[in-house]
Amino acid sequence: MVDTKPVVFFVLGGPGSGKGTQCAKMVDQYGFAHLSAGDLLREEVILLFHFISLIDQKQRDSGSETAQLINQYIVEGKIVPVEITCQLLKKGMEKKGWAEKRFLIDGFPRNQDNFDGWDRVMGDLVEVPFVLFFDADEETMINRIMERSKTSGRNDDNIESLKKRFDTFKKETMPIVDLFDSNGKTQKINALRTIDEVFEDVKKAFEPYL
Ligand code: ADP
Ligand code: C5P
Ligand code: MG
Repeated sequence: MVDTKPVVFFVLGGPGSGKGTQCAKMVDQYGFAHLSAGDLLREEVILLFHFISLIDQKQRDSGSETAQLINQYIVEGKIVPVEITCQLLKKGMEKKGWAEKRFLIDGFPRNQDNFDGWDRVMGDLVEVPFVLFFDADEETMINRIMERSKTSGRNDDNIESLKKRFDTFKKETMPIVDLFDSNGKTQKINALRTIDEVFEDVKKAFEPYL
């Protein structure tokens, strides 16, 4: 039994705002544990599709159904039901080691369903001091994603999916950022500068936890 709850920082921002890039630096330099909800969902699709031949018919049907569902949501830029995402995050946290860790949960909670689902399952188990929010304009984010698309291999790094992702971000994610903000729990970072300049502000935000 541990008496210290793990500390979780949510990391939000539009597609291409630099969430993954900055989280990776926190991992390298300060040993934070990083879990990207989007990465976990993509890995789950690959896992389900790859291992589907090894399991019995009933599991196979449900596995491929889930994989297809996640894939469709991703291509459409929609938010996957929280039951799936929260379980992946919880498993990921357990795998990294639960106790006394500082977790960066990137790309979550993306909408009210994410927020409520997390609260039900994880609300009492962890502390969430604040949300780190990377603020950038759409043009910058589009340019970054189009550059990333040359090597990412992601089926949603194209202009068609990207438009839908921005739409979801504005309609569903910004209200969550605003909700945390209204409780004084959003730390806004100007994400328009160089990676190193942004990181200076990120470090300042985390200063009490370094
Ligand atoms: P997100 O996880 O928020 O979608 P990423 O961290 O994957 O964003 O960054 C998107 C792309 O933009 C990547 O190719 C990354 O190298 C690049 N990038 C990230 N931060 C910056 C920055 N401050 N300036 C320029 N390019 C950046
Ligand atoms: O954060 P990232 O850009 O990797 O997310 C890619 C996609 O994964 C999102 O556009 C969305 O379809 C899905 N996702 C989700 N729920 C989350 C995070 C990501 O459905 N909490
Ligand atoms: Mg990312």
